[in-house]
Amino acid sequence: MTLLEAKNISHSFDYPLFKDINFSLDEEDSMSITGISGSGKSTLMHICSTLLKPDFGSVKLFENDIYKLNEKKLVNIRRKDIGIIFQAHYLFRGFSAYENIELSALMTNFGIDDELLEKLNIKNIINQKVGELSGGQQQRVSIARVLSKKPKIIFADEPTGNLDPTTADEVINILFDYISKTKGALLLVTHDDKLANKCKYKKYLSIDGLIDR
Ligand SMILES: Nc1ncnc2c1ncn2[C@@H]1O[C@H](COP(=O)(O)OP(=O)(O)O)[C@@H](O)[C@H]1O
Ligand SMILES: [Mg+2]
Repeated sequence: MTLLEAKNISHSFDYPLFKDINFSLDEEDSMSITGISGSGKSTLMHICSTLLKPDFGSVKLFENDIYKLNEKKLVNIRRKDIGIIFQAHYLFRGFSAYENIELSALMTNFGIDDELLEKLNIKNIINQKVGELSGGQQQRVSIARVLSKKPKIIFADEPTGNLDPTTADEVINILFDYISKTKGALLLVTHDDKLANKCKYKKYLSIDGLIDR
């Protein structure tokens, strides 16, 4: 099944960002997007993950044109089937790491996966308040939170920006394991060529669209 299909996408804010973006992701596919700051990588992620409507073009998720779905179905897809790991994680600071992850697991009725906490190396800090954790620990908690709801597509926008190279590599491998186990797909924005190169498709975003690299 095609999980994500982007067709002829163009978008401008104060200036044109990109035009004619076309790609699709099937089960177990991964695609990295690199590009200079301000080229529109985050904007393209927002478009593909339902958060922003493009000026032109269509986005299909699980073979549904998202702008032809009713609001309820769209909310369901957003809530259950797509997982977004942002550059700036939006954890609730007054809550513990565990409570933050629990919120997401509750939304979809999946339990919290102990093995995942272990792999992300956050089991020992799970009862600490988010405000007490380091940036890297917070980022790993936010990744656990996203994976705990078992999404079919992961949108990761510079997910390893706060992590040291070894931890970054481990975290990316967890995302790859996840999509291969669940037959999901990964769209990864990163500045790190080494991580970008691990993806099946490697693209560079420019004004003319996505270029193979
Ligand atoms: N909601 C918005 N309104 C106006 N301009 C925006 C908005 N979001 C992003 N931009 C502008 O679009 C450009 C691309 O931003 P972004 O997609 O964040 O790039 P990247 O992630 O590649 O660094 C930037 O110039 C940014 O200021
Ligand atoms: Mg960005």
